[in-house]
Order: sequence, then C-alpha cells, then structure tokens
Amino acid sequence: MAGTGRRVVVEAFGESPMEALENHVKVVAQAAPDPADLAPDDVIVAVRSAAVGWVDLLMTSGQYQHMATVPYTPGLEYAGDVIWAGPSATQKVGDRVLADGILTGPRSIGAHRKWGGFASYAVAPTAALRTLPPAWTYDQGACLLGNYETAYHCLIARGKLTAADTVLVHGASGSTGLAAVHIAKMVGATVIATGRNVDKLARVAEQGADHTVRVGDDVDMRAEVKDLTGGKGVDVVYDGVGGPISAASLRCVKFGARYLVVGWAATPFVAKGRGQRGAPNANQLPTNLIMMKGLDVLGCPTVITTHHDPSVRTERLAAIEAWIAQGVLTPFVERAYAFDELHEAMWAKWKSLHVGGCVLHPDP
Ligand SMILES: NC(=O)c1ccc[n+]([C@@H]2O[C@H](COP(=O)([O-])OP(=O)(O)OC[C@H]3O[C@@H](n4cnc5c(N)ncnc54)[C@H](OP(=O)(O)O)[C@@H]3O)[C@@H](O)[C@H]2O)c1
Repeated sequence: MAGTGRRVVVEAFGESPMEALENHVKVVAQAAPDPADLAPDDVIVAVRSAAVGWVDLLMTSGQYQHMATVPYTPGLEYAGDVIWAGPSATQKVGDRVLADGILTGPRSIGAHRKWGGFASYAVAPTAALRTLPPAWTYDQGACLLGNYETAYHCLIARGKLTAADTVLVHGASGSTGLAAVHIAKMVGATVIATGRNVDKLARVAEQGADHTVRVGDDVDMRAEVKDLTGGKGVDVVYDGVGGPISAASLRCVKFGARYLVVGWAATPFVAKGRGQRGAPNANQLPTNLIMMKGLDVLGCPTVITTHHDPSVRTERLAAIEAWIAQGVLTPFVERAYAFDELHEAMWAKWKSLHVGGCVLHPDP
C-alpha cells in the first residue's frame, strides 16, 4: 500500500502540556501501514479529523490516570475512511468510520495503543470502529463518544437526571460540558450553564442551555442560581471544573441534591501533575454542607467504571444511538485546525478558546 503522510509523536512527557508541546511533541513522516504486518481483523483508517481533547493534552505531561508509554501518537478519538480491511474485519474499503477511544488509541489497552488519531493513518481492530452517521461530518464523528458517553454516565447513570430536575453545569462550554447540556436538554431537564466568558456562554445558550451564569470573583454565583430557581437551588451539579467552584456549588443546591464529580479543568496541576501523594489538593468539599444538606456526592469516572464493568456501556451506547437516529443529537464542533496548526490547536484547547469540539485535520 503506497502513501506517505505525517503523524505527531510525543517523545517524552513534559512538565506541563505546554512544555511538552514546545519540547517533546514532534511531527514526523508516516508511511502507510503495511497490511502484511497487520492482524486479520485490523483496519487501516485514513484519518480525516481527530478530536483535540483535554485528555490528549494532560497525557503529554504524564498526568492522566491511564498512560500511554512514550513515544506515542496522541489522538484518542478520530474519524476517517477505511482504506484497507483485513479478511476478518466487518468494514470495507470506503466506509466512513469513527474510532472508539476505549478500544483503540492511546487510552486503550493492548496492541492498538500506539495508533493515535493525530496522524494520516491509524490502525484499529474492527470492533473499535463504528459507522459514521451518514449526514455527519468527520469532525462531528471525532467528537462523539468520549463526550456523550461521559455526559451520559455522569448525568444519567450516576445522577439519575430527570425532566423534573434543574442541573447546574460547570464548564458548559467545554467538550464534555456541552455534551452534558445537550443530554440534559434531551432528557427534558432545566439547564443552568456556567462559564467565565459571556461570549462563549451566549453560544452555549444557542446550544440549548436555559440559563447562563458567568462565574468569577466579582459574581455571587449562589445569589444568581437561587434567583433562577425561585430560591430553591438546583437538584444536580455537573462539575467538570473543580477547584474553588466546587465548594461554592454546595451553597447553590437543594436539600438532597446530587453533586457529580466529573473533572478538574481548573486544577490541571494538582499533585504537581504527576499524581504524587502528599501534594496540595485544590479540590476540597466542605463535609459540613454535605452532611447538613443530605447531599449525594458521586464520583463519575466513565472509562474506569467501564473497565470495572463493560456491561454498563450497552445501555448508554444504545441511548446515544437512539438520539442520533432521532436526529436530536449532533455534536457541535466550533473549530477545525489544519495539521500545520497543531500548536495553535493544542494551545486553543489549553486556553479553553472554543465552545464544544476542537479538531485537527491530518494530511490527506
Ligand atoms: N468523568 C469522566 O469520565 C471524564 C471524561 C472526560 C473528561 N473528564 C474531565 O472533565 C473535565 C472537563 O473536560 P472537557 O473535555 O469538557 O474539557 P474542556 O473542553 O477543556 O472544557 C473545560 C471547560 O472548563 C472551563 N474551565 C477551564 N479552566 C477553568 C478554570 N481555570 N476555571 C474555571 N473554569 C475553567 C472552561 O469553560 P469557560 O472558559 O467557559 O469557563 C472550559 O471550556 C476535565 O478535567 C477532564 O479531564 C472527565
């Protein structure tokens, strides 16, 4: 199979994602994989679009809980065209597919861990590829599973969200945060979205949030949320931000509310970024409020839960597929970067410049 492209390689972990980007992330030539080296159920995908995810950034500094080994190619999730399929594969040449980041790529376990989506070519086992919905772009396909599976696991599997609930979504402009806004609205809940930037919040409102609250040192979030909820507070908090906003959130809730611990976008350097014990931890919840308000504080690690019990995926994938079939679930991708704009793309993700998805287009 002739063909030459390029791929990104993380040669060593950095002190931070941006330090890794400056010193350890390289772009190198990539020959098309040789089918003679592949397994009968392997598939070669010409990658058209790869999500630039928060986890992709964290991994470059060695601080994600499930680490690739260097050197590796980032790109947990991607979409593209099948250009070769082994004899046992269910796909055929020309199929438009999206990759399941749990079953292939840097976050997966096993032989396909080295094949990330920041590359012209990726190899995935047939079971890790799903058909791209016909009306969708490659960009949308690259921004589906991780975001919507996370939002589903947190809001539905853990949070038991219903149409009667009001949910406060922190980090609502982010990739998983916007998916949470979409899923909460599909369930019929009322959504209060928070963020630091009014322009981005306006775009989150266009995506369905009922109310938006700008957060910052000059804003009384409790007063605003109480105002929006008739003084009652919210039923559910979806917290993908962490840090100071977490404790403040416990003053915005009803008695018996569910508080969903989703992530820590605000504190990426907790534990010096390497998970050492004893380092200061910015995520501290006041136990007095948890006690007195009778709160359920729920840890929501989607992939870890799935590794413990793979059967939990069946229900959520079925729900996501049903929403896609009904035409009510469409990932929002605000910005696509050319491969030569790799640094700009990773910097933009680091600085939270975009609403929803941010993707990279490898060389054709
Ligand atoms: N539980 C799970 O299974 C799971 C799965 C995937 C990801 N995560 C985690 O969830 C978190 C969010 O992921 P994501 O993919 O949505 O990230 P993302 O796309 O980078 O979005 C995070 C959002 O958080 C806000 N934010 C960032 N830094 C902040 C700060 N210093 N203070 C306040 N707000 C800040 C930003 O919104 P504004 O700029 O609008 O304020 C940003 O859009 C990450 O920690 C990620 O590791 C968890």
